[in-house]
Amino acid sequence: MACRICSGRLHPFADFGRQPVSDAFVLPADPGEEFFFDLAVGVCESCAMVQLLHEVPRERMFHDGYPYLSSGSAVMREHFRALAGRLLATELTGPDPFVVELGCNDGTMLATIAAAGVRHLGVEPSGGVADLAAARGVRVRKDFFEAATAASIRAFDGPADVVYAANTLCHIPYLDSIMKGVATLLRPGGVFVFEDPYLGDVVERASFDQIYDEHFYLFSATSVRAMARRHGFELVDVERLPVHGGEVRYTLAREGARTPTAAVAELLVAEEAAELAAPATLSAFAGRVAGIRDGLVDLLTGLRARGATVYGYGATAKSATVLNYCGIGPGLVPLICDTTPAKQGRLTPGSHIPVLGPEAFADPYPDYALLFAWNHAEEIMAKETAFRDAGGSWILYVPDVYLVRG
Ligand code: SAH
Ligand code: TYD
Ligand code: ZN
Repeated sequence: MACRICSGRLHPFADFGRQPVSDAFVLPADPGEEFFFDLAVGVCESCAMVQLLHEVPRERMFHDGYPYLSSGSAVMREHFRALAGRLLATELTGPDPFVVELGCNDGTMLATIAAAGVRHLGVEPSGGVADLAAARGVRVRKDFFEAATAASIRAFDGPADVVYAANTLCHIPYLDSIMKGVATLLRPGGVFVFEDPYLGDVVERASFDQIYDEHFYLFSATSVRAMARRHGFELVDVERLPVHGGEVRYTLAREGARTPTAAVAELLVAEEAAELAAPATLSAFAGRVAGIRDGLVDLLTGLRARGATVYGYGATAKSATVLNYCGIGPGLVPLICDTTPAKQGRLTPGSHIPVLGPEAFADPYPDYALLFAWNHAEEIMAKETAFRDAGGSWILYVPDVYLVRG
């Protein structure tokens, strides 16, 4: 197995077995033939990039029916509003600035840019969510971003001051083509800013459900810097973010265009000291994950034996890894509540648990709720206080299996 970035040797360190496409929620009337692949992950011995060993064709994941909505969390809406404000204040200050967002989804971030009257373009291959962005007044191109897309955007719109991508770059195996595209599109002094789940947080919290088909890469400062340098870019800033269970926002600029901040060196040193990409570190991670699986399955089987009810909360893409790796189905968790319209009335991929709207949660409350959207724990627990008041308990499995009791 060769690294997708540098062709170096891959060291496999975890295998979650056969997994479905994580956002492919199935119709109960016609589950059809589901697509499965082997979800295994490795680290490159040369460039330290953590990556999946097998790729799911992009059209199977990102299409007109892609259900995920960026606007589904109030915390994330505020996060993107603040980021847009910062780009407007710091990077988009010249005459007639231009910003391109890769994977703009329903336009949550670009809506603020559009409202400020700033020239922008969202590149979004999933037609349904792209239509929602357009309905918000965001300019969208329904396409996969890659080298050819970038050349045609540049020819039509001219160079970009900022290329931005949230929770999208790590979804794209073909980073070579992306980086060529960014190099074509960015003006000489422009920046490429992207934020994705951070390997350091995944290892620290044993948050193994960050590994699924769409998350092809798990970035670190070390691996991102090496990847960027292959394309004439330098890592000039990093910022740790609390969202989605721990992310890093990386800023790349053309080599020599900007001086790297102290935060870059600090994070690189911390990763080195923690031996983040060392086989021993990653094997220890895999061992903890197996322990979490056993603990969670024991807890759920024990609760079922006692006649307690457990509902799932948040039909996340992440939950596909948990459900299919742990072998959890409707026998242990009879339903999952979720606010996303395109997931409701369907079954979770592979595990076939019905997804219902949030109103099903209180009708009546279960004894326990398994929080698959643990990255939104604060927001969800704050709006579901009545559940604990009624004696309900939350079950969490990151960084270990534990209860938050009513
Ligand atoms: N940026 C949003 C959405 C993340 S989901 C947020 O952070 O909430 C990832 C998005 O990337 C999906 O909407 C998917 O359709 C899109 N995507 C996948 N491959 C892409 C590509 N090559 N170019 C642009 N967008 C892509
Ligand atoms: P998220 O954890 O953001 O992403 P992923 O699918 O990539 O793992 O998904 C959160 C899911 O939880 C999404 O389907 C919407 C749902 N949700 C609720 O049902 N209620 C809520 O209050 C929030 C914040 C999310
Ligand atoms: Zn490599």
